[in-house]
Amino acid sequence: MTNNYQFDVLIIGSGAAGLMSAIQLSDKLSIAVIAKDKILEGSSYYAQGGISAVLDPEDNFESHILDTINTGFNLGNEDSIRFMVEQAPSAISDLEKTGVKFSHVNNSYDLTTEGGHSSKRVAHVADKTGQSIQVNLLAKVKQKNNITLFEQYVAVDLLVDDDDKCHGAYVFNKNTKEVNTFSSHKTILATGGASKSYLYTSNPDTSTGDGIAMAYRAGCHITNMEFTQFHPTCLFHPQAKSFLISETLRGEGAKLLLPNGKEFMHKYDSRLELAPRDIVARAIDNEMKVNGYDCVYLDVSFKDSEWIKSRFPTITQRCNELGIDICNEALPVVPAAHYTCGGVNTNIGAQSNINNLYAIGEVAHTGVHGANRMASNSLLECIVFAKSCAKDINESDFEELFPTIAEWDASRVAPSKEKVVIAHLWLEIRLVMWNFVGIVRSDNRLNSAYLKIQQINKEIDGYYRIYTITSDLIELRNLAQTSKIIVESAISRKESRGLHYNQDYPNQLEITHNTVMVKS
Ligand code: FAD
Ligand code: SIN
Repeated sequence: MTNNYQFDVLIIGSGAAGLMSAIQLSDKLSIAVIAKDKILEGSSYYAQGGISAVLDPEDNFESHILDTINTGFNLGNEDSIRFMVEQAPSAISDLEKTGVKFSHVNNSYDLTTEGGHSSKRVAHVADKTGQSIQVNLLAKVKQKNNITLFEQYVAVDLLVDDDDKCHGAYVFNKNTKEVNTFSSHKTILATGGASKSYLYTSNPDTSTGDGIAMAYRAGCHITNMEFTQFHPTCLFHPQAKSFLISETLRGEGAKLLLPNGKEFMHKYDSRLELAPRDIVARAIDNEMKVNGYDCVYLDVSFKDSEWIKSRFPTITQRCNELGIDICNEALPVVPAAHYTCGGVNTNIGAQSNINNLYAIGEVAHTGVHGANRMASNSLLECIVFAKSCAKDINESDFEELFPTIAEWDASRVAPSKEKVVIAHLWLEIRLVMWNFVGIVRSDNRLNSAYLKIQQINKEIDGYYRIYTITSDLIELRNLAQTSKIIVESAISRKESRGLHYNQDYPNQLEITHNTVMVKS
């Protein structure tokens, strides 16, 4: 007999979105927060640059809204963007109430800028913004008696009945290797993005698109998945695993250079290093491909060394460990997959099209990013929509009883003796996505990727049917299904817009949204 749990609310994911929603939910509700790794592990913890909000008296909401729409190549939803931007200052004060201490100069926020922002509006905690947010949110969560944390628990599938009502999830306990039933009246997906579909990524190992794949299988609308954002500057070093070099370095004046020391961004955009990310990433990709370079360089060394060390302590330290002195030399950098702009389609209250199922943070498509996310709008989206999700749940009616859920049936599967196949397929997906569905796309490459990813999905489905599940198999299946959605969405967009650049269709068409779903 395996453990079965019942909670008013099940939150799948403990990043900034998941933890913030837990804090904002009523104390009267019993809440479970599950995380497939350590509670603090996830993209949120590694966020460096900051969180955007209109905090400078010279700045205004209309400008933040317009910058977000323009950076997203007019594909963003203006109502959602307006909602997020207008809630941003209170999101900052909510974070401060949990204990986050944003960097200040002369008693004012030390606001900086990044690509696409026309004003200084990025609040930060040196270059450890995510770490500070996560540590403080977790401390707050731990003070609440109504919240139970489950670490090393991997959600496998959502429990959705024939009336499209969600009742929780099947969850794999990595320690006991059993699948437990988590019954809940409301379920929140806060599982982060899918950038691990690509060979090179700034993301931690948790970003395998689990929430998107689970939602897809459950019949959710999944929108605009072709827009994977590539961050222009990740450290090019064999031991660095695409360590992020924050865009705020460029916000503070750092220059991109070719190996011969020459600047090149003037050839691509008048905003130079502070053009939106899609433009800078494509420019770097082009210079590398045309000239056969392994990387380009980012130089901040002309700034005062003491200032560099206090403004960017994490980056300085990590580079030092790898033998690079950013105070005295330029850093080798390359683009890497960074952010999933598409996801589970939701409204402003974070509701999906499945009853009682919500999605917040990077797993969601709230419509705020359009075809390209503006820097530092992601943590903002996490906090703002976590709050609106909690508000919606706090104000809704709860059924008294939990329905009977069938236990997970493992009677027809056996342990796999071929674990190497999982590792091989995992690598194959990430190679295909990197080589065929990357920064610059073409019909030929996308069609080829489709056939390969389709075949891999078939193989994995076969495995899934006969072998006992493991966390690796759960993630592999999700990664393959999410990659398939990315490729299908990329094939169906016959234009180039923002992050989706197809050299066979270099122009923009009428605005359309790509939504896929399994059942109608
Ligand atoms: P995450 O923080 O990724 O958390 C996902 C959670 O879901 C984890 O707890 C994970 O264990 C859990 N999970 C996933 N699948 C399952 C499953 N099947 N079962 C159980 N649990 C599961 N954005 C900004 O706005 N500003 C920045 O400065 C910034 N810097 C960044 C730097 C880096 C290096 C990276 C990678 C991203 C950065 N971003 C930044 C983007 C931003 O950090 C993320 O988009 C955001 O933190 C996502 O938060 P989240 O809560 O949605 O997901
Ligand atoms: C960065 O610091 O460059 C990341 C910011 C972001 O992804 O918004």
